[in-house]
Amino acid sequence: MGKKKVLVVGGGGREHAIVDALSRSPQVGTIYCAPGNAGIATMAECVRIKDTDVEALLNFAKEKRIDLTVVGPEAALAAGIADRFREEGLRIFGHSREAARIETSKEFAKEIMRKYGVPTAAYRSFSDYEEAREYVLGRPFPAVLKYDGLAAGKGVVIAENAAEAEEALKDMLLDTRFGKGKVVVEDFLSGPEFSFMCFVAGDRVWPMPLAQDHKRAFDGDKGPNTGGMGAYSPLPFISDEDRQFALNHILMKTAYAMVGEGCPLQGVLYGGLMKTPSGIKVIEFNARFGDPETEVILPLFKSDIYAMFEAVASLSEPRDEPEWSDEAILGVVLASKGYPGSYDKGYGIDIEEDIDATIYHMGTASDADGKLVTSGGRVMMAVCKGETVAEARDKAAAAVAKIHCSNLFHRSDIGWQATE
Ligand code: AMP
Ligand code: GLY
Repeated sequence: MGKKKVLVVGGGGREHAIVDALSRSPQVGTIYCAPGNAGIATMAECVRIKDTDVEALLNFAKEKRIDLTVVGPEAALAAGIADRFREEGLRIFGHSREAARIETSKEFAKEIMRKYGVPTAAYRSFSDYEEAREYVLGRPFPAVLKYDGLAAGKGVVIAENAAEAEEALKDMLLDTRFGKGKVVVEDFLSGPEFSFMCFVAGDRVWPMPLAQDHKRAFDGDKGPNTGGMGAYSPLPFISDEDRQFALNHILMKTAYAMVGEGCPLQGVLYGGLMKTPSGIKVIEFNARFGDPETEVILPLFKSDIYAMFEAVASLSEPRDEPEWSDEAILGVVLASKGYPGSYDKGYGIDIEEDIDATIYHMGTASDADGKLVTSGGRVMMAVCKGETVAEARDKAAAAVAKIHCSNLFHRSDIGWQATE
């Protein structure tokens, strides 16, 4: 039998890690990636198709006789890529548009959690500004306000006082330029956050090792929220008992709930969880691999990742139970100065040849002369393994020192909750 042809959709560090994992599968021949990036181009054939251009991706997959498509970003799922591919009889790893609502609609996710008793912050949702204002002002601060609607980017606001809350509510409920949205108001929780990803095929759930992301831009968890500035695994502050609780009462329960709702999951379920004084609770769900978590989790996968993706895509069992390495691993993101605000692109990057790390590209391109340049907010990630998180951290620090670019910055305290 010939080797498999795979199409990976997306073009960030997450997709680079997916392509890298696929390239280790003995079954996989050609890997295509749409749109990919300069790093991915060293191990896959990059295709100039946008990740949300479902029809173009479908035509490409048919023309190339792709055996399996693996979807990275949620935008592609929200655009209905999995529905269209399945309609046409093509195998794809990724949830239907309906199932992806576990990420794309905060209210849907909260309703599922309430209905099935999945632990999360208590909440109410509002579409009327005055009602929301009255409710929020009558409660203790900080207030957690989550926008639920078509206009992305308004996101989550943690309001410290009445003035901040009013401003955020006005922005979310009175500015109807993008259509009418809703706001979920929930209790403020505290405790360490962590990411628990599972492969899910209907009611079958295969857990991955735990990871922790670092959302703030600067050391000491200061500065604005970003897509994530680094990640590592394992997490010493989450016990086996905590993990088992989260697996049974959060991830598996949610997978069953989605089957019960008639929109079974068929991809990755990502629990953004918090260990609060009153137990583990859900902060958010994502319907896809986390970025940068995937870059430190997939390198630990010891089995055949193609078999895993295919089992999920065909709602069957993989031939062998997936196995994971128990090594420690840590990755540091190098981001463009100014990120997550505005930043310039096109700065040359030099990587010393004897660098001892896996480098995943997040936002890079090749310029006209073939030179590697920055082309995104998060640019690349240096990932190292070690016997301990501290050892992996020290190796990653040494690796970052071998990456030279005048317009990049990084955090130097990734993994502090595991190493202090
Ligand atoms: P989200 O987009 O839902 O992940 O929220 C972004 C960040 O806001 C999370 O990573 C948390 O740090 C914070 N956050 C969200 N919900 C809560 C909550 N209920 N209590 C405290 N912090 C929260
Ligand atoms: N690392 C957070 C996310 O992927 O949404």
